[in-house]
Amino acid sequence: SSDVGNDLENILLTEEQLRGRLDELAEQIDRDYAGKDLLLVGVLKGAVMVMADLARRLHHDVEMDWMAVSSYGSGTKSSGVVRILKDLDADLTGRHVLIVEDIIDSGLTLSWLLSNLRSRGPASVEVAAMLRKPDAAKTEVDVRYIGFDIPNEFVVGYGLDYAEKYRNLPFVGTLAPHVYSS
Ligand code: PRP
Ligand code: MN
Ligand code: MG
Repeated sequence: SSDVGNDLENILLTEEQLRGRLDELAEQIDRDYAGKDLLLVGVLKGAVMVMADLARRLHHDVEMDWMAVSSYGSGTKSSGVVRILKDLDADLTGRHVLIVEDIIDSGLTLSWLLSNLRSRGPASVEVAAMLRKPDAAKTEVDVRYIGFDIPNEFVVGYGLDYAEKYRNLPFVGTLAPHVYSS
């Protein structure tokens, strides 16, 4: 159905809450990178919303580049082995890089990405993630900017999908169990 209302259980973060936090994060990033050139690296596809919303709040001339990665194999993503589907266009040598993510779940994607990008000779690599599930962490990742810590529940919206759906919801919600248990 085109009406997603029945598929959602709860709204976890409203549009207003997301907007308020984005304002704060952008202010912090502006301050931290004052006088520096900054390259934002969005991780497709989930990071599209936060990338667009964060970037437009910066009073900073940033470059935006994109990377698409996939866990090796199809089923579980817990292996931590990641394959590059689309690499960056930019050369990272001497650049200040800020990875932008929608969510840190196990942390395995990000931890692989961090070591991959750090091996390319950047001046710095930091992470901004809108959401983090502390109870799902399988590895500790040092994250400079975090929107919200959330419970270990199945969430969708604001870039996050379930089987490629719900990404375009402007808020973050939990999915009703009937959607993924059938
Ligand atoms: C999701 C999410 C993060 C990653 C987090 O991406 O957008 O990139 O998983 O999981 P982890 O911390 O357990 O590694 P996904 O691989 O589903 O691709 P998508 O962004 O295209 O949805
Ligand atoms: Mn992703
Ligand atoms: Mg996904």
